[in-house]
Amino acid sequence: MQTHLPVMLEESLTGLSLRADGIYLDGTFGRGGHSAAILARLSPAGALHAFDRDPAAAGAAGRLSAAHSNFHFHAVPFATLGEVCAVAGIAGRVAGVLLDLGVSSPQFDDPARGFSFAKDGPLDMRMDPRSGESAAAWLARATEKEIADVLWTLGEERNSRAIAHQVVAVRKAQPLTGTAQFAELILSVHRGPRQKIHPATRSFQAIRLHVNQELEQLASALTQAVDVLAPGGRLVVISFHSLEDRIVKRFMRDAERAEGSTLERIGKKQFAGDAEVAANPRARSAVLRIAEKRPPDYRTRGQG
Ligand SMILES: C[S@@+](CC[C@H](N)C(=O)[O-])C[C@H]1O[C@@H](n2cnc3c(N)ncnc32)[C@H](O)[C@@H]1O
Repeated sequence: MQTHLPVMLEESLTGLSLRADGIYLDGTFGRGGHSAAILARLSPAGALHAFDRDPAAAGAAGRLSAAHSNFHFHAVPFATLGEVCAVAGIAGRVAGVLLDLGVSSPQFDDPARGFSFAKDGPLDMRMDPRSGESAAAWLARATEKEIADVLWTLGEERNSRAIAHQVVAVRKAQPLTGTAQFAELILSVHRGPRQKIHPATRSFQAIRLHVNQELEQLASALTQAVDVLAPGGRLVVISFHSLEDRIVKRFMRDAERAEGSTLERIGKKQFAGDAEVAANPRARSAVLRIAEKRPPDYRTRGQG
């Protein structure tokens, strides 16, 4: 069975400052590692609403639903959390929101999903394969400039132009449909010093972020998360990519500094400990940030 080890679990639970009777949101259910740990700490008066747009998450969610009547699963993108909370009547009453970004190990390790070039599979990369455009479909229609721009802005790929040029040349003769085929193409135009990471890593990451609109989803969800939190509620975000972390960092900083701010950063960014990284290499790039919602007048209270 494919598993996913929840990253920075204790730090996430501490960051959420869990209350047994609180209402919590897990925006990234995955295989339910964080959700199960949250549910274990809730009393029947508390509740957990979890989200995942990957239909493959439904199995684990169904098992948790069967065991916990206060668990509610929403098979929709987390950028709809505001709407879901409004419908559920919990907007403004949420005690904590957790986002553990990126893909899960089972998604990454299944060649049929197309996230990895380690084993050949269809060039798909969608978290929800039922909607949107696959990586193959996008590579078949995007212009050379669009491809180069995505590889550069979302992958910081120095060979972005050469790769994009080769994609457009190759696709005239044959469609790009496989992960191994695309990785080979990238290798064929690779220039520059040998790197620690495989030359295709950055391009795969960039196209994954693009086809899933991951950064747009994140930016939208952060605003909605603050809106649905109750005063004292916590926002905890785990990022695995510098572009994600930059969005989270700036969002929390700007929200804290804004006129009439209702958000305060809690502590500094955190990283996984050595023992966790040794047991779970995925944790190596994790960065966790916490913020707390405050009453609108918290800065001026007590003054004058
Ligand atoms: C890193 S995994 C979460 C793992 C989970 N915390 C666990 O312990 O099993 C991220 C999950 O979030 C989902 N996901 C990513 N972006 C999403 C979005 N915008 N809306 C809903 N789900 C999303 C992915 O499908 C994936 O299953």
